[in-house]
Amino acid sequence: MRFTIAIDGPAAAGKGTISKAVAAHYGFAHLDTGLLYRAVGRKTLDGTQAVAAAEALTPEDLEASDLRTPQVAQAASKVAAIPEVRAALTDFQRAFARRSGGAVLDGRDIGTVICPSAEAKLFVTASAEVRAERRFKELMAGGHDTGFETVLKDVKERDARDMNRADAPLKPAEDAVLIDTSSLGIDEAIAAAIAAIDARRTA
Ligand code: DC
Repeated sequence: MRFTIAIDGPAAAGKGTISKAVAAHYGFAHLDTGLLYRAVGRKTLDGTQAVAAAEALTPEDLEASDLRTPQVAQAASKVAAIPEVRAALTDFQRAFARRSGGAVLDGRDIGTVICPSAEAKLFVTASAEVRAERRFKELMAGGHDTGFETVLKDVKERDARDMNRADAPLKPAEDAVLIDTSSLGIDEAIAAAIAAIDARRTA
């Protein structure tokens, strides 16, 4: 059985949490495609050239412990605007999407570019303030010393770069179901996602 669920949306909208829960619910494999860009971005912070880093990426690179820092997130967003970097990561994502047993991929361009014929597509979003508040709490809980205004600025900067790049900009696919998590709890957001996907599975 092949069934691809594409989950796109801006930073900290809840894609990761929803994707993991959806994958567990259906027994599908899950790929957080942001990690690919984060692993490439992290290498550029060490001085490696972005395209070379993307072409030489290994599964071990995705295990690095510091991929979730704000510095790596900004570096990821920058390398993600380079078409050759995106091209180097495409085949791996498409192969993952079509594996047997079903797959959930979350990112920015899964429903539009990587898997335009995915069986189910969601676009998960929330206001920039709500997303920054969530990210701020996560960072504080993880022991990072930062301020809400800094996190909000970071989120807005990343949104602008991800939405305005020429290659594979962040935008909902025409046939994506929109889920705004601004005023939804985690369980409500997951339930909304599963209801939308079930509608496509029985369609
Ligand atoms: O989802 P994330 O915050 O881990 O993603 C980090 C950056 O990677 C994001 O700002 C843009 C880029 N990205 C992308 O361009 N395409 C994807 N499919 C996933 C992430």
